[in-house]
Amino acid sequence: MIKRIIKFKEVSSTQDTAKRFIHKQEEVAVSSLRQKRGRGRHGRTWISQPGGLYLSLLLFPRTRLTSIPLLASLAIIKVLEDYDFSKLSILWPNDVLLNNRKVCGIICEQYKNAIICGIGLNVNIENFPRKLSNATSLKIESGKDLDINGIVKQIIGRFNPLYNELQKQGLKIKEVLNYIAGIGKSVEIITSKSVIKGTVHDIDDDWALLLRDHIGMIRKFYYGDVRRLSW
Ligand code: BTN
Repeated sequence: MIKRIIKFKEVSSTQDTAKRFIHKQEEVAVSSLRQKRGRGRHGRTWISQPGGLYLSLLLFPRTRLTSIPLLASLAIIKVLEDYDFSKLSILWPNDVLLNNRKVCGIICEQYKNAIICGIGLNVNIENFPRKLSNATSLKIESGKDLDINGIVKQIIGRFNPLYNELQKQGLKIKEVLNYIAGIGKSVEIITSKSVIKGTVHDIDDDWALLLRDHIGMIRKFYYGDVRRLSW
């Protein structure tokens, strides 16, 4: 349960700042207005200009580590619904889409008994570099500037009860499944070893993606990136 939010104006990466609090064994959130070296999944850079929300949750979970990014996605979706956004979905493994474009990315890193769950939410960003043509922000979608610190507080407020529930009796995966994007649609799954085409069949209880390949075989992926093909 996160009781404290530690705020910064600029850090290298909130993931690294959060790491410095591990020795206290206290669950805290670290946020910053910008990051000099924001990082995304698979060693990518997360461009972290002012106007974005950069947040890391330092957690010491007792159970089901793999579901933490899901909890974060669900908490974010709930906050955005509270702000009256709709057309929200989760693109496996843990991107949040708004109107089919990426509005939030999540990365989870493990250090000893700690998990640091990093959340990058595009709040008041107005332009993205060309190569991020599939990105959007709350400002682009609503035309409004929103209070970033207010959203941080709300994310923690939505995350805590979900996290408590997870620690007590396990995650109700069903609620998350309501938000899954792309069931039945064509994708490529890109892993370090291969690129495989197919259609999204389902997400199972391990939060693995089940893909139906071109000969109709169901293949299970525990990790990878999804490239959407014409949708
Ligand atoms: C992704 O989609 O690749 C995940 C992006 C995660 C970015 C966030 S921003 C806050 C935290 N600090 C970082 O350096 N990365 C995460």
